[in-house]
Amino acid sequence: MLAAIGESHPDVVVVCGDICQRGTAEQARIAAAECAGLGVLVVAVLGNHDYLSGAADEVAAILAEAGVVVLRGQSVLLDLPGRGRLALVGAMGQMEAVTPRQRHLVPAAEYDPVHYRRMLTHRSIRAATAVVSVLHVPGFKTATSGEPEHLVEQMFNPAMGRAVGRSRRVRLCLNAHCHRGCERYRTRSSGLRGRSASCRVTGTLTRTYELDPRTGRVATVHEGLPWPADLYDKPAPHPGPGVAPRPTSARNLAS
Ligand SMILES: [Fe+2]
Repeated sequence: MLAAIGESHPDVVVVCGDICQRGTAEQARIAAAECAGLGVLVVAVLGNHDYLSGAADEVAAILAEAGVVVLRGQSVLLDLPGRGRLALVGAMGQMEAVTPRQRHLVPAAEYDPVHYRRMLTHRSIRAATAVVSVLHVPGFKTATSGEPEHLVEQMFNPAMGRAVGRSRRVRLCLNAHCHRGCERYRTRSSGLRGRSASCRVTGTLTRTYELDPRTGRVATVHEGLPWPADLYDKPAPHPGPGVAPRPTSARNLAS
């Protein structure tokens, strides 16, 4: 992962979920070791794959033990000396993305739009120069542009999108989950900028962005190394082999 980030020196690495292909503790330990070796703060949300083995709480705990800040309907505030504060609010974003057998394991904070809006407007992040929303399942249909028609409705959660869109503090939305969605999007209703961190979409292992907190402009400063496209196309036995996380690096230039 370090090589993929290169010399871009991000303030924070954001992992947008589906960290483990089969959601096992074994895979979580591999991902945690990668994150711990980065020497930079890693913030993550869980994805539906992280629930696949019914061990999402353990996956989250293993990552947290390695120093990863796992957001499950929570927020974190980062001080960027001389450049203000960056707040990240994150969750998986949709209960239905998880298989029916595992849905009872998903806390409401992972998908409840009322809770998410409360997080986005919470007084603890009012001091932030910019707020970034991190949802594994995107909240906006425009993020699914390019997906097969019959899959679009299940690839985003409009209720979460409305929660994000109503917040005037959000400057950037990050998501994953889509296979053929678009990397860059802008919402029609609120003009919010979004980026997909899905390796299938970007074609790279990481991508480093620079965010202007005042305008919300986002510039790509590092493309990242190419993603080996056959990584997920091979049938994985259960439990599958460890799979590297799909990170998105974000550099904030608050001023
Ligand atoms: Fe997913």
